[in-house]
Amino acid sequence: MNILILGSGGREHAFAKKLSESKKLSKLFLAPGNAGTAKIATNIAINPTDFEAVKKVVLENNIEMVVVGPEAPLVAGVHDFFLADADLKNIPVIGPKKDGAELEGSKEFSKKFMFKHGVPTAKYEAFTKETVAEGQTFLETLQPPFVLKADGLAAGKGVLILDNLEEAKMELADMLTNEKFGAASSKVVIEEYLDGIELSVFVLTDGKDYKILPSAKDYKRIGEGDKGLNTGGMGAISPVPFADKDFLTKVEERVVKPTVNGLQKDGIDYRGFIFIGLMNIDGEPFVIEYNVRMGDPETEAVLPRITSDLLDLFEGVATQTIASKSYEVDPRTATTVVVVSGGYPEAYENGKVIRGTENDVDSIVYHAGTTFNQNGEIVSAGGRVLAVTSFGDDIPSALNKSYKTIDQISFEKMNYRKDIGFDLV
Ligand code: AMP
Ligand code: GLY
Repeated sequence: MNILILGSGGREHAFAKKLSESKKLSKLFLAPGNAGTAKIATNIAINPTDFEAVKKVVLENNIEMVVVGPEAPLVAGVHDFFLADADLKNIPVIGPKKDGAELEGSKEFSKKFMFKHGVPTAKYEAFTKETVAEGQTFLETLQPPFVLKADGLAAGKGVLILDNLEEAKMELADMLTNEKFGAASSKVVIEEYLDGIELSVFVLTDGKDYKILPSAKDYKRIGEGDKGLNTGGMGAISPVPFADKDFLTKVEERVVKPTVNGLQKDGIDYRGFIFIGLMNIDGEPFVIEYNVRMGDPETEAVLPRITSDLLDLFEGVATQTIASKSYEVDPRTATTVVVVSGGYPEAYENGKVIRGTENDVDSIVYHAGTTFNQNGEIVSAGGRVLAVTSFGDDIPSALNKSYKTIDQISFEKMNYRKDIGFDLV
């Protein structure tokens, strides 16, 4: 089977590596991919939200399945585009249509969905430019910290958590009247603060049934001790020690089943990943958010642990036979440490020559933001540059390998957190 993966990050490199291990794979393409995927697949330099360009690539290369990495093409309707096109409609897309992608595309939509289907989550109200004053009055009824969320996609930056009521009122007005986060904050969800430990659970569904993949914990802040600005993710660990059998059973019964059944009841034919961001509060799961794709860097810790054929699972999604599929998991711990450009998540420079990525005996060095310069050297091309994953019998031994591998990698101003998993050991 010929496969096209849309996207260019560490997540997509991890998909590419896992799919390239499948006996069922013929040729693998990425659009646009990175310097790491160039080693194991063919990169094609198009923008994944340019659907006409995607169509051309699919037809020219006899692509038989499309795997969508990031949310943007899904929210923009890439799956709907395929279904509406006579030449593409029989080519399966792993990723929901626009209706399902709203679970990530609109916070209000996802909150309404959770309340409708009895999925545990924080209480909330949504406000617009016309109802700023009501929003401010609502804030007065809540206890700090105050959680304000831009309704639309804001590249992971649209959530504010504030301790001070006056500041929260001001920020609400700024988000709504001045569109602080662009059109994404023309509506704002205010919700109750959930105090617990976060983790992510990943579900792959064919619209009828589902498989729950290994869980992971992500480290979002730039600074050690979870301090400083939010990033796309600085590291990940799978499995999550506190997500024991009892907790995961609660997640399946209270969250996964009502979510998959709710999609069906609402007439949303969802085929792809559901990434459930959860808060564990004294052993009880609450949903923080849905994403309609895999997490990055969680994918780089989760997929290497899946020892069976991922393409076989994807076929299960495409043919709605996932119930009859099974998969196996490596019981060891996988840890991922993300290496970023100096300055990230604020301004940083691209084009730094990266050395040492071939030192990958004890780890998998996934590329995230890399490309080639005119001399054919690997250079940085993004905030998150590499994601280094290693296995171990426990978190410290796996992390040790990742840090040793990173010691042999260098580029100007590189930065990474040296305390991934600090709260778990
Ligand atoms: P989201 O984009 O909804 O995942 O929010 C970003 C981050 O903000 C989450 O990963 C949580 O760490 C935090 N967060 C979001 N909603 C809440 C909440 N209701 N209570 C506490 N923390 C939250
Ligand atoms: N690592 C968080 C995300 O992918 O949204």
